[in-house]
Amino acid sequence: MNKLTYFFATCLFLVCATTLQARTNRVTNEPDSVFLFSYSDANGQSGLRFAWSTEGTQWFSVADGYDYVKCDFGPWGRQKKMFRPRLMQNRADGRWHCLWTATQSGEVWAHAASADLLKWGPQSYFTEADRTKYLPSTIFPITEEKITVNGREEDGWMQRVPYSTIEQLVRFAEHKKYRQSLYDERAEQDPVRFAGLKPLEATINVQTSQTKPISEHLIGIFFEDINYAADGGLYAELIQNRDFEYSSKDGSREGWDSNYAWSVRGDDATFTIATANPIHENNPHYAVLNITKPGASFQNPGFDGITLKKGEKYDFSLFGRVPQGSKGGKVLVKLINQDGSEIASSSVNVSSKEWKKYSTQLIANADVRSAELALVPQTAGTYELDMISLFPRNTFRGHKNGLRADLAQTLADMKPRFVRFPGGCVAHGDGVDNIYDWKGSIGPLEARKPLRNLWGYHQTRGLGYFEYFQFCEDMGAEPVPVLAAGVPCQNSGTCSHHAKGELGCNGQQGGIPMEEMGAYIQDILDLIEYANGDAKKTVWGRKRAEAGHPKPFNLKFIGIGNEDLITDIFVERFTMIFNAIKEKYPEITVIGTVGPFYEGTDYDEGWALASRLNIPMVDEHYYVAPGWLIHNQDYYDRYDRNKSKVYLGEYAAHLPGRPNNIETALAEALYLTSVERNGDVVSMTSYAPLLAKEHHTQWNPDLIYFNNAEVKPTVGYYTQQMYGQNAGTDYLASSVSLNSKEDAVKKRVGVSVVKDNHTGDYIVKLVNLLPVEITSQIKLEDVALVNPTATKTLLSGDPKDKTAKSVTTDFEVKGNDFPYTMPAYSFTVIRIHENRK
Ligand code: AHR
Repeated sequence: MNKLTYFFATCLFLVCATTLQARTNRVTNEPDSVFLFSYSDANGQSGLRFAWSTEGTQWFSVADGYDYVKCDFGPWGRQKKMFRPRLMQNRADGRWHCLWTATQSGEVWAHAASADLLKWGPQSYFTEADRTKYLPSTIFPITEEKITVNGREEDGWMQRVPYSTIEQLVRFAEHKKYRQSLYDERAEQDPVRFAGLKPLEATINVQTSQTKPISEHLIGIFFEDINYAADGGLYAELIQNRDFEYSSKDGSREGWDSNYAWSVRGDDATFTIATANPIHENNPHYAVLNITKPGASFQNPGFDGITLKKGEKYDFSLFGRVPQGSKGGKVLVKLINQDGSEIASSSVNVSSKEWKKYSTQLIANADVRSAELALVPQTAGTYELDMISLFPRNTFRGHKNGLRADLAQTLADMKPRFVRFPGGCVAHGDGVDNIYDWKGSIGPLEARKPLRNLWGYHQTRGLGYFEYFQFCEDMGAEPVPVLAAGVPCQNSGTCSHHAKGELGCNGQQGGIPMEEMGAYIQDILDLIEYANGDAKKTVWGRKRAEAGHPKPFNLKFIGIGNEDLITDIFVERFTMIFNAIKEKYPEITVIGTVGPFYEGTDYDEGWALASRLNIPMVDEHYYVAPGWLIHNQDYYDRYDRNKSKVYLGEYAAHLPGRPNNIETALAEALYLTSVERNGDVVSMTSYAPLLAKEHHTQWNPDLIYFNNAEVKPTVGYYTQQMYGQNAGTDYLASSVSLNSKEDAVKKRVGVSVVKDNHTGDYIVKLVNLLPVEITSQIKLEDVALVNPTATKTLLSGDPKDKTAKSVTTDFEVKGNDFPYTMPAYSFTVIRIHENRK
C-alpha cells in the first residue's frame, strides 16, 4: 500500500468508526418535539440559558447552563445583566426574538434576534414604552413557568420546539467548549502533554523566488493613557496636579481635588483654591498662597516623588500674580530630599498684577529618588499661582514640553512603523461628555482642557495631539489617531446627555445627538487639516505652524471608533463620518472597527458594515489565551483578500494572573509568524496596553512597566522589538518538515521568512514553543549568497520566566544551507546580510 492509499484508507476507517460511534449513541425513538424553557440567573448574572423536557416535569439543563446570548448593556463585566429573558419565535419567518430587562428595576429593556438561537444579532436598548415595537406580530405559544433544573428553581418561559433544536443547541455549546479546552492549553501542562518527547529535527525549506509583498507597517505601537502612561509617565512633567484641575470626578477618590498633591509647610501660611479670575477659562482653578511670615513653603511631591539626576538641568516655570495689597517678591524654588537636604535651588520674582509666566533653571547636585518641590516666598503677602511646572531639560529629542527620554527611547527602540493614539477607551470616553476632543489637547498648555481619564485619574493633556504627532515624526512612525465614531465607550458607566432620563444612568453607548454631529464631523475634518493643511492658507495648518511645525505631519491613517457595539446608533454616526472624510480627504485611509472580540455579533456586524461601505481597513481586537494563538494560526489565511485590510490594533496573550512571561511572549511570537505570512491582508498590528507605571496599574499585562527611575521592558517587549527591528517588505514561502506528526507538536513550531528589500537582508524567524530543542537545517533555495554574514537574536527561557531578555550575537552562515538548533521555548531571529563586493 503506498502512502496515499494508506492515508485514504485510514481516513475512511476513521469516518466509519466515528459515524458508528455516533449512531450507537443515538436513541432511536427520540421525541419529535419537546419543551424548551428559557431563563437567566435570578440575579441577572448569566446570559440566556435553556432547559428541556419531554413532558414538562423532569427538566434537563442544555449544555450545563451555557449562555447563548449575553447582555451588552451597562459598564464592564458583572454589571452587564440579563433579567427574565422572554424568548419568542415569530410564526411568519421562524426568527427568534428575545426581550429582557437589563436593569433590576426594569427601566431598561433589551432586544436581540436570531435565526437559529446560536448566532445573535445586535442588541437594542429602550424603555418599556417601546417594548411593543420589538414584539413579533404572531408568535408560537409560550407560557410563563417556574421549573426546577439542577436542583434550582428557575423562573422563565416555556414553549414547544422540535427535538432537533435541542440537539443543535447542545452541539453548538459542545463545540465551543471543545474549542475552549484547546485555548486553555498551557505550558505548565507540557510535562504531561509532551511526556517522553525527544529533541526534534526539522528541515526548513525557503523558496526565495516565491515572494509576496507585505505591509511595511506591520509592527507599531498603541499608546493609551492607561496605567499613568501619560501624566506621571511618558509626559516628562514632574509636578503632579500642576494646573490645580484635579477633581473628585477624576479619580472618584476622596481627597482627589484641586489641592491634591499640594501642601503648605510651616505655620505662617495658608493655601486655598480660587476660580474668580483664572489664566484661561479651560483652566479655572488656581492656588492662593497667603504668607504671613516668610519661611513657610508650598510643596509638591510630584508623582510618587521627583526623581533627579546629579548634574542634570531642570526647567521650572509658573504663572503668578499678586493681588492688590500685596507687593510680591522673590520666591525661592527648591528641590529638597526627604532628609531635608537641598538638591537644587533657584528663585523667581513674582510681582506682576496680571498673570505672568516666570521661569528659572535648576541643576541637581545629587542623584535623588524622591525629592519634593518647595516654593518659599521671601516676602509676606498673597501669591496667586497656577501651572507650576518642572521638566527635565533632557527630554526625548530635547523638545520643550517633551517626553521622558528613557521611556520614549525604549519605544523608539522597537522601531514602530506607526503609533495609534490616544486610546482605546480613552479615545471614545466614558459617556459622550468624556469623548477625547483633540482640539482641547492642543495650543498653549495653560489653555488646554484637562479631561477626566476613564481609567480613574486626570489628564492634563500636556501630552496632546501636537506632541503625539511630533513623537511619531521623531521615530519615523506613521501617526494613527483614533477618534470616537460619535459614540462613547460601549462600557460607559456614566449617563451621557443622550441617554439620561431615557435609559437610566447605568451606562451605555448613547450617541452624540444628531444635531451636534455636524460640528463633531467638522472637528474630525479639522484634525486632518491640522495635520496636513498648508501652514499659511489653512486655519488649522496655521495653528500647527504656530505650535512650531510649519511642515505638515503627513497624516495617512485615521481610526474611527474603538471596539464599539455595532448598533444602529453606531452605524448611523460612523457612516456620516466615513462619508465626510471620504469626500473631503479621499487619500486618507479610514480604519473602521469590528468590536472587541475575534468573533461574535459586533465582529460579524462590523465586517458586514465594512463590506457595505467599502472601508479600507478595520481594527480588530482580541485579548486571548496563549492556546488561542496556538490554535488559530490559520485565522488570517482564511481572510478574503478583496475585502478590507486588517489592523490588529489590540491584542495580547492572557494567562490566569495576567503575567507577561516567556509563555505569553512566545505565543505572541508564534502567532506573529502567521501574521507576517498574511502581511498582504494584515497591514498593522499593535500589542496592548503599552505602558504601566508600577503601583498605578489598572490593566495587566502591559508591554513596559516603569517607575520614576527605571524602565522595565517585559519579555513580550522583546518579541515586539525583534519583529519591529526585523520587519520585511516581502514574505518568502517556506515549509517545515518536522520528524513528528503530532498536531500538538507541529502547532508549536512557527517559521516566517521575510526579505527586507531596503537592505537586501533575508530574515528568518523561528519559534519553538516546545520543551525540547529542535535541530534544524535551513535551506534558502534558488539563491546563492555571496559572503553572507549574519546575526542571531535569541529570546528563550522557562515558560514562567518574566525577566528574560533577547540577546544578539554574530551567527555563522556559510552559504544558503545552514544548521541551527532552536532551544526549547525560544524565539530566534536570524538576519542574513549579503556582502557582495
Ligand atoms: O488596552 C486596554 C483597553 O482594552 C482599551 O482601552 C480598550 O480599547 C480595550 O478594551
